[in-house]
Amino acid sequence: MKKILTLALSLAAISTVSAQDVMLTLHPDKAETVIPKEIYGQFAEHLGRCIYGGIWVGKDSEIPNIEGYRKDVFEALKDLQVPVMRWPGGCFADEYHWRDGIGPQEGRRKMVNTNWGGTVEDNSFGTHEFLNLCEMLGCEPYISGNVGSGTVQEMAEWVEYMNSDTNSTIAEERRKNGREKPWNVKYFGVGNESWGCGGNMKIEYYTNLYRRYNTYARNYGDNRLFRIASGANGGDTHWMDVAMRECRHNMDGISVHFYAVRDWGSEDDPITGIPMGKKGSALVFSDQEYYEIVSKSLEIEDIIRAHIAVMDKYDPKKNVAIMFDEWGTWFNVEPGTNPGWLYQQSTMRDAIVAASTLNIFHKYTDRVKMANIAQVVNVLQSMILTNEKNPSDPCVLTPTYHVFKMYNAHKEGKFVPADLVCNHIQVNDKEQVPVVSSSASLKDGVITLSLANMDLNQKHTVSVSIDGKQVASAEGQVITSADIHDYNDFGRRESVYPHVFTDSKIGKKDGKLTVTLPAHSVVTLTVKTK
Ligand code: AHR
Repeated sequence: MKKILTLALSLAAISTVSAQDVMLTLHPDKAETVIPKEIYGQFAEHLGRCIYGGIWVGKDSEIPNIEGYRKDVFEALKDLQVPVMRWPGGCFADEYHWRDGIGPQEGRRKMVNTNWGGTVEDNSFGTHEFLNLCEMLGCEPYISGNVGSGTVQEMAEWVEYMNSDTNSTIAEERRKNGREKPWNVKYFGVGNESWGCGGNMKIEYYTNLYRRYNTYARNYGDNRLFRIASGANGGDTHWMDVAMRECRHNMDGISVHFYAVRDWGSEDDPITGIPMGKKGSALVFSDQEYYEIVSKSLEIEDIIRAHIAVMDKYDPKKNVAIMFDEWGTWFNVEPGTNPGWLYQQSTMRDAIVAASTLNIFHKYTDRVKMANIAQVVNVLQSMILTNEKNPSDPCVLTPTYHVFKMYNAHKEGKFVPADLVCNHIQVNDKEQVPVVSSSASLKDGVITLSLANMDLNQKHTVSVSIDGKQVASAEGQVITSADIHDYNDFGRRESVYPHVFTDSKIGKKDGKLTVTLPAHSVVTLTVKTK
């Protein structure tokens, strides 16, 4: 594979800048749009071991827990300062009937989770368990309602159950089940992937359903629902166009989903014969595959731009938000795990994808108001892993978790426009990857600067200028690893984690900052100016 990379690199004569040199100019005086903290949202679906064995072990479990929530996972999420969490799906949401998940846990109805491996779902984690978790974590819940197989009445009553402070029969039922005050849920999705697992609808049909279901999802008391329509599969601008034309006055946001996948095509696992796709392994990949995934993940920017162009036509004042409520890498499941459970490991490659994608989201926060990486525990590009074989092992924090934590300082900062000049690496005859991805934000006069070196093999030196200012100090953290394939695992939980970053200099005369980024690394710096 080295050979392929050398070939690719030899095609790299794209820019006039020398190979080791990157120039970044920041314009803090032009910083206007606040980066909503909800860009750092999470997604928890009843899928594989995300809920059961990930978040929830039950109060009687031998695994240390707080009110049934796995203690180490709970504490890691608390530490991460999760702003918003989406639940119960995903595809699961359109088969979920909320009444199955309330009342005494022993009596709850069991169902087959047809989307995800045919597992029997005992509904022991339901509305109370999820909303109480959000309350304990201090994050906003984001509920996905069932349009695909649920009724209008069912959805309307779920909203009433969660949000009404009246003495209606439904609100009293909630009290009887142990919750006096309403949770005042704000974010509410009307269906999920209605073009696919959420009902295989055409947008022309879904828009009518959206308007109907949404009508009866009422506001209670002072709480105002933030209403989110089921949006496009990647760059499907026809979906966006019709949704905006027909529903823009009835919605606050519309979702978009996009996964960084090399190839969805089907292919059987040579041992089990189970269809695995050609997504490739999360752990075993060539240099070429690394660049292909990074390049794929960067397509998200074109997708956002295409949707914004359509939305601007109908909604120039940007009243309707894009909620990027599913994104991340998607590989074949780890060998020996249930193919329907989507359990994948997470390497330094995932950290690079996380950083560069967050950098892109920051740029479009005048329209993109929320994003939810898929998913929070044990599914796809997760933050946290727990051990299926030995559940009492302490949980593992993935490199992606660490990037999210390093990026916390960007939350609620103003996005700082910038000009970046750098070389590109040619991935194939159509795609290139810039060697560096960057993003900066401004809060209380201090700049947070994040830089991802996407070059697998070379370090890059970034020369940073800030309009009208000199740099007084720059301190921060770096996450990198000797090998891009490095990951954190049970028994060696912290192979890839952030360190203090020391490779920056401030010019004595010009006050310019020079940052040398190790190959495949992510750096976040707090930059003070004078
Ligand atoms: O995140 C896994 C699945 O991907 C979700 O359930 C679905 O919405 C999407 O297709």
